[in-house]
Amino acid sequence: MASFNFSLNSTTLLVLLLAFFSCLQISIVASHEFQVGDLKGWVVPPSNDTDIYNIWASNFRFQIGDSIIFKYKKDSVMEVGKENYNDCNATQPTFFSNNGDTEFKFGHSGTFYFISGASGHCEKGQKMIVRVMIQDLHSKSSAYHVPVFPIGVFVFAFVVSYVI
Ligand SMILES: *[C@@H]1O[C@H](CO)[C@@H](O)[C@H](O)[C@H]1NC(C)=O
Ligand SMILES: *[C@@H]1O[C@H](CO)[C@@H](O)[C@H](O)[C@H]1NC(C)=O
Repeated sequence: MASFNFSLNSTTLLVLLLAFFSCLQISIVASHEFQVGDLKGWVVPPSNDTDIYNIWASNFRFQIGDSIIFKYKKDSVMEVGKENYNDCNATQPTFFSNNGDTEFKFGHSGTFYFISGASGHCEKGQKMIVRVMIQDLHSKSSAYHVPVFPIGVFVFAFVVSYVI
């Protein structure tokens, strides 16, 4: 009976690792996180540049299950209807948070309207429309890769310790 040579060289390890990475990526297609306004966060826009949040939102394709994170100080986030968005009417939000670090997860597709609840801020442009698409299963290239890395390292360490 031929003995099975189980010694793994570094090339084999690399192939195994890559295989794990690709499996993980396929299963982690959903759930992207976006920080509103990037590093600026959720603030009153400069008076000569009031449309920054809608410009920011137009850079992405949001899908069901994605989250947006609002970072702010002494302010708040409200989700409102279209009319109240246009009027900056903060009297009847369907969602409200003022804890400074608000995660809003999109549970369905459609159009979402956000305004600041702080007095006068929405009028100065601190408001945003987000359109969320119906999940497109063919767009795997936009998968969120960051969380995969620590798992990959763990798997790599496990394989190495098992082999040595
Ligand atoms: C707005 O004004 C600031 C300072 O006055 C300037 O640096 C910036 O380029 C202006 N932005 C736009 C979009 O005009
Ligand atoms: C704000 O919206 C509510 C209903 O959503 C309405 O009853 C109220 O009159 C509005 N306020 C103003 C100032 O338009």
